[in-house]
Amino acid sequence: MIEYTTTPTGITADMLGGFFVGWPDPPSPPTHLRILQSSHFVVLAVDRQADRVVGFINAISDGIMAAYIPLLEVLPDYQGRGIGTELVKRMLDKCAELYVVDLTCDPGVQSFYARCGMQPSTGMMVRRYEYQAGRIEQAN
Ligand SMILES: CC(C)(COP(=O)(O)OP(=O)(O)OC[C@H]1O[C@@H](n2cnc3c(N)ncnc32)[C@H](O)[C@@H]1OP(=O)(O)O)[C@@H](O)C(=O)NCCC(=O)NCCS
Repeated sequence: MIEYTTTPTGITADMLGGFFVGWPDPPSPPTHLRILQSSHFVVLAVDRQADRVVGFINAISDGIMAAYIPLLEVLPDYQGRGIGTELVKRMLDKCAELYVVDLTCDPGVQSFYARCGMQPSTGMMVRRYEYQAGRIEQAN
């Protein structure tokens, strides 16, 4: 039984293992938790029986006009059950009154997002792979 929640309250780092599959330098679970806590919106899929987060999506936003969705992932063992679709739909609902909702993705995933009601676009980006695990917070 998968439960969906829109707050990271009550989520601990040890509920967040197994994500960032294939990333050379993934964020640690504690850093992942900080990312969720620092996001404007999150939707989490939680397997309460296993006491673990099995899927998540986050958005950073000005809360007025625009939101950007940096991350969406469902644990491999839980893929193909509609969880990813549900996470995107719930996030788009959270962003329903915003003019802009953007994300970047590989071409192969565009059909998945299109079925969630999104449309293709072009964009520009910078990636600094030395910071892929997350920037270490400065002391002040
Ligand atoms: C993309 C992802 C979140 C989808 O999650 P999911 O829970 O498996 O998705 P759903 O079960 O809701 O799948 C819905 C449909 O999308 C399709 N789909 C899933 N992943 C897809 C992908 N990478 N490319 C194209 N189609 C995909 C499924 O086949 C399914 O189609 P169907 O309904 O015709 O069977 C998941 O595959 C994942 O975590 N992938 C690795 C991380 C990733 O690529 N994230 C997106 C970054 S932009």
